[in-house]
Amino acid sequence: MIPRIFIYITLILIAAALLPPAITAYMRTSKKPQPRIHFIQDMDNQGKFRTQHENPLFDDNRAMRPPVDGAVMRGEIVDSEHLTSGTLNGTWATSFPSQITVNREFLQRGRERFDIYCQSCHGLAGYGDGIVDQVARDLLVNSRLGKGTSWVPPRNLHELTIHQQVVGEIFNTISVGKNNMPALESQITVEDRWAIVAWVRALQRSQNAELTDIPESDRDNLETVNLIPSNNEEEEADEE
Ligand code: HEC
Repeated sequence: MIPRIFIYITLILIAAALLPPAITAYMRTSKKPQPRIHFIQDMDNQGKFRTQHENPLFDDNRAMRPPVDGAVMRGEIVDSEHLTSGTLNGTWATSFPSQITVNREFLQRGRERFDIYCQSCHGLAGYGDGIVDQVARDLLVNSRLGKGTSWVPPRNLHELTIHQQVVGEIFNTISVGKNNMPALESQITVEDRWAIVAWVRALQRSQNAELTDIPESDRDNLETVNLIPSNNEEEEADEE
């Protein structure tokens, strides 16, 4: 037979255990003028104006301000799919948009932007051997930091598959990134992204140039800077 006292104590304990949830439920459902007890403040309570509330600072008393005249919403299409997304009727555009004029100055701009935004990973000439790649490879081999990790190297932009990509697709890669490559559209303007595309094309062309790409009148000069072997016969002999 259990002594009565134990039964009483158990009942009291059960009743006491019900108190916290009861208080919590009451607190959650009732309204009070004072703020709730809030142990961990973080930055939850601070002076601010909420949406759809009043703010006497402004003439119209509205806390929400209308956009400034001429404001363009982020991502708002500037009326050309070709220009802003590199597509035409849902497929990658094969040409530069009409708003863009590719000339020497534009290429220079592209080169400058490429050197700022791309070469750290892809290398100055686009071979995927930028400083980031070099450091990563070094860490992988020589540092504890590299243990258990892997490295996705930046693409070599002279690979055939990238050569075969049309300009719209490259524009898209710069804009939204690709697998491990970050999106850069928030950092580089639409025009500059096209300028970089033009420079990528120039780099690709430069690494695969044929003698016939060079105007005949300029070919003599080339020999002096040693871009083509000065003694073709010797070269052929070596290969044999
Ligand atoms: C932080 C390093 C990094 C930067 C900066 C970077 N890339 Fe990349 N890029 C990568 C990596 C890594 C890949 C390979 C992604 C994969 O295949 O997983 C890649 C892939 C690519 C590809 C091939 C995409 C495909 O279809 O396979 C192109 C083209 C390219 N990058 C162009 C650029 C251009 C142009 C810039 C500058 C605007 C740039 N990248 C900046 C790291 C970078």
